[in-house]
Amino acid sequence: MNFHTRKWIKPEDLNPNGTLFGGSLLRWIDEEAAIYSIVQLGNPRVVTKFISEINFVSSAQSGDIIELGITATEFGNTSITLRCEVRNKITRKSILTIEKMVFVNVNEEGKPVAHGKTAITYIKDQFLN
Ligand SMILES: CC(C)(COP(=O)(O)OP(=O)(O)OC[C@H]1O[C@@H](n2cnc3c(N)ncnc32)[C@H](O)[C@@H]1OP(=O)(O)O)[C@@H](O)C(=O)NCCC(=O)NCCS
Repeated sequence: MNFHTRKWIKPEDLNPNGTLFGGSLLRWIDEEAAIYSIVQLGNPRVVTKFISEINFVSSAQSGDIIELGITATEFGNTSITLRCEVRNKITRKSILTIEKMVFVNVNEEGKPVAHGKTAITYIKDQFLN
């Protein structure tokens, strides 16, 4: 799993208990997973279809640096399935896991269309040739 995006937890990201607000984290994860899917499927039109159980493993505090990790676990006909983990960048302690996020490749009308991909492709193979 690659951890691309780092976030520095600030006061505006906290819940009333003073720890990282789950809604902020889910917003970041959904965007990170959408970008991952767009890059993998080569189509800017992808939509979130399904998110499995979300395990908030441990909390994060203001000032913590966290990193968001995504990997593709399955390529369907029109869909891509991802696994996600968020962890503390310094201690590597797990903060959140999502076993399954499904994104669907859609056309201009928002209808599912085949993406033709079967395996993870890497940036160096996609853009630098
Ligand atoms: C995404 C959407 C276009 C799919 O339409 P649909 O009629 O369900 O499409 P299909 O039944 O053909 O399924 C499309 C793919 O999603 C998968 N899928 C459908 N329901 C699923 C579910 N509950 N869990 C996992 N995968 C699912 C199907 O297996 C299929 O994948 P495949 O082609 O790789 O086999 C439609 O549901 C939609 O527009 N949803 C709203 C999306 C959105 O607005 N997301 C933003 C979040 S608010």
